Amino acid sequence: MSLEVNVASELFDRHRAVMPSWLSLYYDEPIEITRGEGCYVYDGEGRRYLDFFGGILTTSVGHGTSEVVEAISDQAGKVIHSSTLYLIEPMIELAEKLAAISGIPDAKVFFTTSGTEANDAALLLATAFKGTNQIIAVKNSYHGRSFTEIGVTGNSAWSPTSYSPLNVSWVQGGSRIRGPLANLSDEEYLARGILDLEDVLMTTTTGRPAAMIAEPIQGVGGFTLPPDGYFGTLQKSLVNRGILFIADEVQTGFGRTGEGFWGYQSQGVQPDLITFAKGVANGMALAGVIGRSEIIDCLGANSISTFGGGPVAARAGLATFDLIVNRNLQENARRMGAMLKAGLERLAAGNEAIGEVRGKGLMVGVEFVEPGGFVPSPQRAGKALEDAKAAGLLIGKGGLSGNVLRIAPPLTVNEAEIAQGLEMLGKVIGE
Ligand SMILES: Cc1ncc(COP(=O)(O)O)c(C=O)c1O
Repeated sequence: MSLEVNVASELFDRHRAVMPSWLSLYYDEPIEITRGEGCYVYDGEGRRYLDFFGGILTTSVGHGTSEVVEAISDQAGKVIHSSTLYLIEPMIELAEKLAAISGIPDAKVFFTTSGTEANDAALLLATAFKGTNQIIAVKNSYHGRSFTEIGVTGNSAWSPTSYSPLNVSWVQGGSRIRGPLANLSDEEYLARGILDLEDVLMTTTTGRPAAMIAEPIQGVGGFTLPPDGYFGTLQKSLVNRGILFIADEVQTGFGRTGEGFWGYQSQGVQPDLITFAKGVANGMALAGVIGRSEIIDCLGANSISTFGGGPVAARAGLATFDLIVNRNLQENARRMGAMLKAGLERLAAGNEAIGEVRGKGLMVGVEFVEPGGFVPSPQRAGKALEDAKAAGLLIGKGGLSGNVLRIAPPLTVNEAEIAQGLEMLGKVIGE
């Protein structure tokens, strides 16, 4: 065993000694990422990897990107922190840009420091605005780790408690290959989905819950996505009953899906509230909720956020936003994503261990099954994740059974890098 391997394993021992047992790490031999450059990262032993997961879809414009690094260091040299008790010009400017691009007329923005907290804020606002704690959530969803968000997370692997401040009812959505909506045409899926929602509303709620919360593409759920227009179809029922729609864009926002700046745009739905995090500031702790001003303004008590929208994170957010818009990275996500998906479909053709290749833009999932059916195969996905790392490629894993590879490079990825990633994946999936 080399000296370097001992350094990583010693760090792993220290991690296990002081970190919670449930804070899971990837890989039998976890790595520390110590440096990044564009779409590549290096571990503590100097090994280089093509990074096709971006720290969970967060490094949206690449590692070490000079515009973001310079914005952060410039702001850090001026003032790092002041709190929301004082005016913060970069926060206001970013809010103006996000409000303008949100698609919500008369929008206002509240900044937080994590996606969990953004969804907490959205649910607080929706329930306060409507005067009820009834919420509709989607099966196989993930919305965060807090007490409130666990209550709307439809995945037992991420639900450590049954207690919740919310009264939640569940609808179908996402999977095309399992569950009651499996193997349906798009039209049948939409028709059955609306029947399911109506049934849930009539039988498990007062008929007037505060809101429905949904991810346009389920992230932790394994990049599962319903047919285009699904949530828009459901919204007809919601609007009739005065129920708000919260789009959780924590993974799908900021051009990631290629088809729109937000994932909801492929769904024909008009959100009342949008939550965002991850890709907004290329890895700085920034998140928030955008919404109709009457909803954002509805709270009848004071609130602050000590860190939310702080000057350094907001400057990183502005630099990231400008890069995404000025370099048309949404279009790059569309083109590179199409190349990635087509390549994966070629690799999957005739491979009975792959049940589905799915996704939009730079958000592509590969679902592993036992050959000859749709029984999930977390073992195959786990082995593929390890083999990819050994080949020099970092990707993610998800799905209700942990049997889906999640492939999501930075939006700056180029053709040569996609080709290189596909070559590595070819070896991994082929084996
Ligand atoms: C769709 C979605 N919502 C919310 C969250 C929670 O975000 P955070 O981990 O920043 O609290 C996540 C995190 O993976 C997510 O994927």
